[in-house]
Amino acid sequence: MNITKVVDNTYKLSVNLEDMLFEGLWEIPNGVSLNSYIIKGEKTAIIDGVCGWDGVPESLFKLLDELDIELKSIEYLIINHMEPDHSGWIEDFRKIHPDFKVVCSQESADLLEAFYDHTDNIMVVKDNNTLDLGNGHVLEFVKIPNVHWPDTIATFDRLTGTLFSCDAFGSFGKTGENSFDDMLNQEEIDFFEKEALRYYSNIVASFSLPVKKAIEKASTLPIKIIAPGHGIVWRKNPKKIIDDYIRYANYQKGPAKEKISIIWGSMYGMTEMAVKEVAKILENEGMEYDMYQVPEASWGTLLASVWESTGVILAMPTYEYKMFPPMAAALEEIAKKKAFGKKAFRLGSYGWSGGAQRELDDLVNRCKLNWDFIEPVEFKGSPKDEDLQRIEEQVLKLIEEVKKAVNA
Ligand code: FEO
Repeated sequence: MNITKVVDNTYKLSVNLEDMLFEGLWEIPNGVSLNSYIIKGEKTAIIDGVCGWDGVPESLFKLLDELDIELKSIEYLIINHMEPDHSGWIEDFRKIHPDFKVVCSQESADLLEAFYDHTDNIMVVKDNNTLDLGNGHVLEFVKIPNVHWPDTIATFDRLTGTLFSCDAFGSFGKTGENSFDDMLNQEEIDFFEKEALRYYSNIVASFSLPVKKAIEKASTLPIKIIAPGHGIVWRKNPKKIIDDYIRYANYQKGPAKEKISIIWGSMYGMTEMAVKEVAKILENEGMEYDMYQVPEASWGTLLASVWESTGVILAMPTYEYKMFPPMAAALEEIAKKKAFGKKAFRLGSYGWSGGAQRELDDLVNRCKLNWDFIEPVEFKGSPKDEDLQRIEEQVLKLIEEVKKAVNA
């Protein structure tokens, strides 16, 4: 756990999670931070008590000592969002300090009872309610439902202009002492931008509409600092992460970056032969692209790439009259994240029977993906010269479509 000062009388307590799957599902190759914040007015509040993922650690007491904060003086535990990565230590905290009040939305209160059987000392707040901690720290609560659960609120300190935004404006990537944008060089900022995209596409992409509404709401506040529940604090340029999130939310409609994601799988190397040719064409044409082989690729990273790509190439063989199964699984996940409106092309091999295309068409229609496919190329066994010629024509066509969509 590390503690850093955000601004006068406001501190960040963070722990990093590594070597685990976030939400039991998502790979986090670069870890993720869980951030809590302490605000010291005449009364003290902790926002999102996540600082001990496995309970309240001894190190917390040491840190409170350093800040000259007595445990008993913590009057409020503000829970912006009940998901356990923001509330997981509440019961442990109650064992050592039973008198604090939980401040949260009604939806969070219901979940607290369901998850922890916690019903005591709960102060339910509504949109724009305030809590005066004294010494000028007046906290305003802003409902931002579905970023990422229906219960979510953000907390705004009117004195310091700090928005404690919970999952909104968060990113993957572990943080250290220098977890503020004003302490990072460009390379480090770029790293967190990539981690923010992966976080967005994995965790909140399905809720892009609520994200837009939350951003509209936040824009009415005089924000000076954005302090999210995951990732770095934006103290020098909060507009940067707001603009990035607006961009990510807008990608959901389709046109995104001038980029193509290739998702491919191959049983015996026949489809792979064609994929290698596709990569050469994209290279020669100077088109930015990523390639992900299924089932080996991390879904989280694949999703991030698809989310920011305007074009997608799906390359897979027919398998027992259907799509190569890991491709079907990856597409189902992409569909759940509502990555709509891509320009797309499919190619692949078949042996004794086709059928992959039929299943793909069904999935795209069923999930209302609204992907705009150009005519596919299927070949029996290995790709012959005429197949590769046809594939080249179609890839060039896709590149044209991608450029047209981005520059429309
Ligand atoms: Fe970071 Fe939705 O929890």
